[in-house]
Amino acid sequence: MKLSLVALVSAFASTAWAQAVTAIDRVDNSTLWLNAIVGKKNLSTVECWGIQPPFVVSTQPGTVGNKILQLGALANASYSEFPVGPNINAGLHNAPNAQYVVLLAGNGTISFPSGQTPDLLVRSNQILIAVDTPGTSAEGHNSLWAGGTRVLQMPFEGGVHPPHRTVKGKCPS
Ligand SMILES: *[C@@H]1O[C@H](CO)[C@@H](O)[C@H](O)[C@H]1NC(C)=O
Ligand SMILES: *[C@@H]1O[C@H](CO)[C@@H](O)[C@H](O)[C@H]1NC(C)=O
Ligand SMILES: *[C@@H]1O[C@H](CO)[C@@H](O)[C@H](O)[C@H]1NC(C)=O
Ligand SMILES: *[C@@H]1O[C@H](CO)[C@@H](O)[C@H](O)[C@H]1NC(C)=O
Repeated sequence: MKLSLVALVSAFASTAWAQAVTAIDRVDNSTLWLNAIVGKKNLSTVECWGIQPPFVVSTQPGTVGNKILQLGALANASYSEFPVGPNINAGLHNAPNAQYVVLLAGNGTISFPSGQTPDLLVRSNQILIAVDTPGTSAEGHNSLWAGGTRVLQMPFEGGVHPPHRTVKGKCPS
């Protein structure tokens, strides 16, 4: 009884929050909202993560007065280039590490074997989070990269996810 009440209240709270965020996202310039590929119930799907803490005004030399936000502790970053030419189908895979993926150029279409999650288009200059690591999702996701796409992969140190708020489904565009 106690348990189901808690579940009910939290379900209500998360629904209310999801609606609030969808509505305020366009004017909420204090939070960085990023699409995240997550493994839930052994399936990969998309959530929208608001990285915490939010933006502050920078006092760092070189960016004084700008909006700035901490991405958290990172390890073992890599840079990779897909060959120029036809699309590259990476096939179904799990995220190799829990990480940020920064698209410097090109684009990618992420699709999901479950059929329940619509494709996610990732464009140049966007930051994606991929945390559907082995053990969280049986099949992972499929990535179709445009030829010439260039990416930075920036794993979270120790696989620890940055603090974030979560909204179900992809971020409002
Ligand atoms: C957010 O936008 C408002 C309205 O444009 C502006 O007044 C405010 O300074 C912005 N805040 C940040 C942190 O950029
Ligand atoms: C960095 O990457 C190498 C090669 O994939 C791996 O052996 C090593 O464990 C990684 N280190 C960390 C801290 O993730
Ligand atoms: C993705 O990039 C390719 C190669 O530059 C381009 O032809 C294609 O139109 C892009 N797709 C989208 C949806 O932007
Ligand atoms: C996820 O699915 C795989 C393949 O069907 C299965 O082997 C594994 O036990 C499942 N894991 C969980 C936590 O359900």
